[in-house]
Amino acid sequence: MLTGKRVVLAVTGGVAAYKSAYLARRLLEAGAEVEVAMSDAARNFIGAQTFAAITGKTPVIDLFGQDLVSPHTELARWADVVVVAPATASTLGKVAHGISDDLISALLLATTKPVLFAPAMHTEMWEHPATRENIEKLRSFGYHFVGPEEGGLAGGDVGIGRVAEPESIVEELKRLMGAPEEPLEILVTAGGTREPLDPVRYLGNRSTGKMGHAIADEAARRGHSVVLVTTSGLQTHPAVEVVRVETAMEMKEAVDGVSPDVAVMTAAVADFRPADPSEEKLPREDGLDSVELVPNPDILASVVAREDRPYVVGFAAETGSVDRAIEKALKKGVDLMVYNDVTKPGSGFGTDTNEVTLIDASGEVEAWPQMPKTEVAARLLDRIVADVASRR
Ligand SMILES: Cc1cc2nc3c(=O)[nH]c(=O)nc-3n(C[C@H](O)[C@H](O)[C@H](O)COP(=O)(O)O)c2cc1C
Repeated sequence: MLTGKRVVLAVTGGVAAYKSAYLARRLLEAGAEVEVAMSDAARNFIGAQTFAAITGKTPVIDLFGQDLVSPHTELARWADVVVVAPATASTLGKVAHGISDDLISALLLATTKPVLFAPAMHTEMWEHPATRENIEKLRSFGYHFVGPEEGGLAGGDVGIGRVAEPESIVEELKRLMGAPEEPLEILVTAGGTREPLDPVRYLGNRSTGKMGHAIADEAARRGHSVVLVTTSGLQTHPAVEVVRVETAMEMKEAVDGVSPDVAVMTAAVADFRPADPSEEKLPREDGLDSVELVPNPDILASVVAREDRPYVVGFAAETGSVDRAIEKALKKGVDLMVYNDVTKPGSGFGTDTNEVTLIDASGEVEAWPQMPKTEVAARLLDRIVADVASRR
């Protein structure tokens, strides 16, 4: 799928730049035409001559002074796609803020073609709030990402920040350059339900809806048609159809009104609700010895039981081992269960990151490293779209 595609490989300054020589070779093997552009910093890590020997073309290394009059715009127009590997924190930051003071950042601002970033940096740099914000911004601009992965880093450190392997980058490029995703009708539920005791007080839970909103936004950006049934007031992508609800019963009614191809059920739905909520605020002086609770409907089970059953993704926020989630996945009959241990730091309610484990319908388990919820959303959608396509 890369045959005849014109790929600009932009190499920026990290130790992982040495892997881009191998990436250049893999791109050529996949049938792509490759032009390499290098930042000044990149040339501290690998020589331009290495790329010249692999691609048969001299890399572009400067905005000024080489043969090309306007190298950034010429490369930008020539490319069918630009891949930045490795992508440094600095280059990501420049593009997120519209700074174009060197060859690579000017090229990235000048191109209208798809851009795939393969970030690589130490964990501290990747987790810095500035980098987090830049990645969010770049995603919202429509840039694509592959990796980073967890593993060994420069200097013997271990953590998230390792550049994606050349094979994964080539696969991601093939996906980007292939046919666009077939648009799906996707239902997402998000947030924690609030079950009233009286007009002021409720029984609730700690779910904020961030994970579900990230999935809805990512799906809308990819052109899917999205209905988001949510208890959260978070902003959403303008193309998302939002149905705001409070209680489990309201959520059930809203979900019943949608017949999607895919249902991603991230909402934390209360299992029980007060049997008889008071219409007036309960006065403190009257006391309250106990609250009678009645069970709420199991919304996930009702979607799985439909005759026109969609592809169903359940979420299991647990506080213990993955075994309980495997049991739950098999019992509920979902196509995919996304499990996270909400007691782990950086995982679960209210955080911007999540560490999840996927469990498929046969109980097969796939653990993902901790990553931003936006990235969990993107990877999860890749998986859903691939599963749905393979069934059609
Ligand atoms: C030994 C060494 C390794 C580095 N590795 C990385 C890295 O992996 N990721 C990163 O973002 N910056 C890394 N840097 C810092 C960048 O090289 C520096 O921010 C540079 O200005 C990036 O410029 P560029 O984005 O134009 O290539 C490293 C610096 C040194 C000295």
